[in-house]
Amino acid sequence: MFMSQIVIAGICVMSQLVAPTEAPAATPERKFVKLWTVADLEPVLKQDQRPRHFEAGRKIFQETGCTKCHLLKGEGFPIGPDLSKVQEKFKGVELLRQILEPSLKIDPEYTAYLVMKSDYTAVTGFLVEEGKDAITIRDAVFYSEEPLVIPRSEIEALRKAPLSAMPTSLLSTFTAAEILDLLAFVEAGGDPEAAVYKNP
Ligand code: HEC
Repeated sequence: MFMSQIVIAGICVMSQLVAPTEAPAATPERKFVKLWTVADLEPVLKQDQRPRHFEAGRKIFQETGCTKCHLLKGEGFPIGPDLSKVQEKFKGVELLRQILEPSLKIDPEYTAYLVMKSDYTAVTGFLVEEGKDAITIRDAVFYSEEPLVIPRSEIEALRKAPLSAMPTSLLSTFTAAEILDLLAFVEAGGDPEAAVYKNP
């Protein structure tokens, strides 16, 4: 443990030394803006001036990795719920709340479980079936078409995770205006013809 900390510290120092001469990264690194809360953004949302920017919202949806876990207009991976019709469930500030505070209200189908296996590996996923000899689980981190079947004999512990499988602070490197573009994109269901892209 101690050795590895020294090694990590060494790598950090090294990377600082070589950083200026390195080629620039393909996507510029984003800087921390704020650990946004609904209270910060609600007033901004209320004063929002249309139209919002479709392309900016789409780009942020991809950049923040929403597509790693959500389908929208057939794009992305179905780990979490399909967002194509999410506007029928949540709109405006309520939709924003779902994005900023994912653990507030979790659909039972998406309750995350942690499986600790006897080979010291772990899987986080959604329970599909709890059989006598095995459990079937959908991986909540890496998308796979087929669910995993884990024999009970290989399971050390099966625990309900206290939080959503959806990470928080995904938007902490974006500005308020960018977040409104993302919100508009999700609420519009990825449709560039939606009202939010037109002048009021
Ligand atoms: C690691 C996977 C993962 C990532 C990345 C992720 N989500 Fe989620 N998301 C989930 C899961 C799982 C749920 C369902 C459980 C819950 O409500 O917390 C969810 C729920 C939601 C909901 C509520 C949907 C409903 O029908 O109840 C919205 C809206 C949402 N996510 C938007 C986003 C946006 C926008 C991003 C990108 C900024 C994002 N998510 C990134 C996994 C993820």
